[in-house]
Amino acid sequence: MDMPKAFSRRAARALTSALLATATLTALSHSAAAAGTLGSAAAGKGRYFGTAVAASHLGESAYAGTLDREFSAVTPENEMKWDATESTRNTFTFAAADQIVSHAQSKGMKIRGHTLVWHSQLPSWVSGLGAADLRTAMNNHITQLMQHYKGKIYAWDVVNEAFQDGSSGARRSSPFQDKLGDGYIEEAFRTARSVDPDAKLCYNDYNTDGVNAKSNAVYNMVKDFKSRGVPIDCVGFQSHFNSASPVPSDYRANLQRFADLGVDVQITELDIEGSGTAQANSYATVVKACLAVSRCTGMTVWGITDKYSWRSSGTPLLFDSNYAEKPAYDAVLTALGGSGSGGGGGNGGGTGATCTVVFTKTADWNDGYNGQVTVTAGAAPITGWTTTVTFPAPQKVSTLWNGSASWDSSGTVMTVRPTYNADLAAGASTSFGFTVQKNGSSSAPTVGTCTAS
Ligand code: XIL
Repeated sequence: MDMPKAFSRRAARALTSALLATATLTALSHSAAAAGTLGSAAAGKGRYFGTAVAASHLGESAYAGTLDREFSAVTPENEMKWDATESTRNTFTFAAADQIVSHAQSKGMKIRGHTLVWHSQLPSWVSGLGAADLRTAMNNHITQLMQHYKGKIYAWDVVNEAFQDGSSGARRSSPFQDKLGDGYIEEAFRTARSVDPDAKLCYNDYNTDGVNAKSNAVYNMVKDFKSRGVPIDCVGFQSHFNSASPVPSDYRANLQRFADLGVDVQITELDIEGSGTAQANSYATVVKACLAVSRCTGMTVWGITDKYSWRSSGTPLLFDSNYAEKPAYDAVLTALGGSGSGGGGGNGGGTGATCTVVFTKTADWNDGYNGQVTVTAGAAPITGWTTTVTFPAPQKVSTLWNGSASWDSSGTVMTVRPTYNADLAAGASTSFGFTVQKNGSSSAPTVGTCTAS
């Protein structure tokens, strides 16, 4: 856009804030610094990248090391399920799940709670109860688990796999469905909201990844819940794929139609059987679909290494059984906008502190422009950051805000450090901005590597 020469810096800045406030900014040009891990690259896109974790493997250094380096969220693979937490009525066992939760918390990772009400991995005492008793037991189970982890869980899979496969669109037969009827799902969500109002409450299922009879049935339930004020915040798409059940061509469209109902969507148990390029391409398709849907808040793969996958023979994960990065890993990292294999970019040096930077032009006129650089912490919290911005000569920066600058001798490379905004939680962002005199050059500046401490 053209602006009169007299257009003042203050006015330019006011316009910038107005644009920011209405969130109508278009990224005219951006370049992210190399991001070396799944978690930090996803954070650069405002998403988390998680994995299912088994407490029994946390003592294995390669397992814990890969987890801590690469992932920004965890889901206990089995440890929060009913058979693991309440195998005897009203006797709760949290030790294994606690181990995962405290590990994740110490690394600043998000935690997905999985799962409160599910027909599988359900102790036989639950299936044996009569209706009234079952209702009490279900609400008690939800209450005890959510209270124990209150304030620590990003999202709970409140109800898992409640619908049948195939064309019927019917609810699956289960003790809950058979004895309590359709209303048990709504009741579970209402109980969950009353216990931990800060946790996002999700419905989670498989074979709902594309538009089909089963996902239509879930869609109608979510639509009904939203219209009646039943508390639901998100829908999880398990995304267990193989050659018989490949990534559907309408995967993104399906995520989007759920998001359009006013819920977040998440990819919750991603694994894709196969190897090599074919597997890598399918993974990239899934990641790109999530990034294309603004309410897709994150992705979780169902395990770190093929060695411990629940479908190990299908080698469905990103790391092989020796923890080597597979082509699928590179494809995911690239799709997330990170660097290829080898990592390195953006690492603050050994502490797990990483950050990424993205440049956006926020205003543009005849002889100047305003730029903004968003700094996002990776999978771990950071207490400091530094990045460079290189300006094409003969551009000159006339004002800088929310950062402090030093310049190289050529006067083209500006190194920026925080002023008040050094501390960032994992995945959190801050930004600094500047006004530039073009002096004849309209090219965008380039951001360098972000270094965090
Ligand atoms: C699987 C676990 O990965 C296995 O270790 C366990 O034996 C069975 O359950 N849908 C879900 C997950 O919601 O909880 C399941 O996890 C995989 C399918």
